[in-house]
Amino acid sequence: MNNICLVLTESKGTINKNIYGHFSEHIGGVFYDGLWVGEDSSVPNIRGFRKSLVESFKKINPPVLRWPGGCFAETYDWRDGIGERSKRPVTVNWWYNEDKRTESNQVGTHEFIDFCRLVGAEPYFAANITSTTPMEIRNWVEYCNFPENLTTLSTLRGENGDSAPFNVKYWGIGNENWGGGGNMTPQMYAREFMKYKTICDSVNNIGCKFIACGPNGGDINWTKGFFEEYRYNNNWQSSFYGLSLHYYCGAAGHPLTFSEDEYYQMLSQANEMQDIIRKHRAVMDYYDPKRTLGLIVDEWGCWHQGGTGPSKGYNLFEQQSTIRDAMVAGLTLNIFNNNCDVVAMANVAQLCNNLHSLYLAGEDNFVETPNYFVFDMYKTHQGGRQVQIIDDFETMQVKDRADIKSVSASASVNENGDITITLVNMDYKEEKQVKLTSFGGQIAGKADITVLTADDPHAHNSFENPKAIRPATYSTAINPGDKVTLPKASVVSVVIHK
Ligand code: AHR
Repeated sequence: MNNICLVLTESKGTINKNIYGHFSEHIGGVFYDGLWVGEDSSVPNIRGFRKSLVESFKKINPPVLRWPGGCFAETYDWRDGIGERSKRPVTVNWWYNEDKRTESNQVGTHEFIDFCRLVGAEPYFAANITSTTPMEIRNWVEYCNFPENLTTLSTLRGENGDSAPFNVKYWGIGNENWGGGGNMTPQMYAREFMKYKTICDSVNNIGCKFIACGPNGGDINWTKGFFEEYRYNNNWQSSFYGLSLHYYCGAAGHPLTFSEDEYYQMLSQANEMQDIIRKHRAVMDYYDPKRTLGLIVDEWGCWHQGGTGPSKGYNLFEQQSTIRDAMVAGLTLNIFNNNCDVVAMANVAQLCNNLHSLYLAGEDNFVETPNYFVFDMYKTHQGGRQVQIIDDFETMQVKDRADIKSVSASASVNENGDITITLVNMDYKEEKQVKLTSFGGQIAGKADITVLTADDPHAHNSFENPKAIRPATYSTAINPGDKVTLPKASVVSVVIHK
């Protein structure tokens, strides 16, 4: 037991680097005192953005970053976030009645683009389609992308500090329009989508990729309803880039004191991503048999009860992430890699001080969570050719939820011929020895093996103990048939150099 065979002749295609995307919303502490500290802050910053975060984020090659929401996008007026910062309006940013947060608009279009450039990510804008007009979203596209001094709006962009176009390629048309984004039916949404997309296409000078709001988790009725309405009112000649879905795992015990059963229940929930992706693609295949559209998972991660982060509940949705959350990240990214023929982009929610975050920050404090290290360990998959795996991993039973395999795995070969294998040992108590073999080529050479684990799966990094969890890397020679040790509850990456 515990053998994997890499079938080097079989692949589902290229792993789109955008599968390793991120999400940053104007909610709680994601931006203010998270990413953004302001230029005059005593916290070291680059044009207002927290320097330690910029430097850390850059290292994992973030391909794409979604902004400004989420739900926030559906009340966002982009004009509030341009022009002299001291004159920008303060607007309401309440999520619940007791949440009296306001939005200073200090981070707007120009600042966000600056952040993307600092870290090397493509911007992905989510457009408000609930509380504005198609004309205003068209104007935002024009403001961002039209050539210097060609129109009044592109001239205004120059006056606001950026004469060169931003070339924002990815545009989400709405957010969760089945819920907070207008409580629409899929038929209503399809109509709105067509309206907004058609109008925005009239200023589409750079081949923008428009993304339709997709389902909540496994709700295939949304996907069917949307495509039925879209199909009968469109000849597909003016098509779009893809359909986005949101899927969070939640309600599996307290984020820091979960039981063993709850640990497995969370992993089982995360594993459902596989079925969700396949189910929606099956519906899409009926309407889009040539697979011109991608599936975009533009929000995913664990959604625990709030209040366990350093702000003790002040930052809405802020939570601590343990080894269990890192394993959810590793498992989910393996699923995306293994479905790279279907998933065109995915954005983990959210970057800082929120759900499933890579960072926790506040004033002078800054920590990388275990989730961060998973993105670092998996970054060599970006743009690689996925490799099919045959395994004989045992099945583990999970109380009240679907069974899971004891190990999750994915593999890819990059353009230099280096092979990356990423493995998650789901077992709470037992280490695993995994034997590596291959078919259609040899896997042998000098390898770097990185192990992310802790004595206790509840372990996490905090302001008080920021380096409690760190992955360890060692170099070794790998020959066919060698075994790799996966400690209990761990994420392991093996990079075999050509
Ligand atoms: O990520 C937090 C929220 O979750 C987003 O605003 C919304 O899109 C989703 O419901």
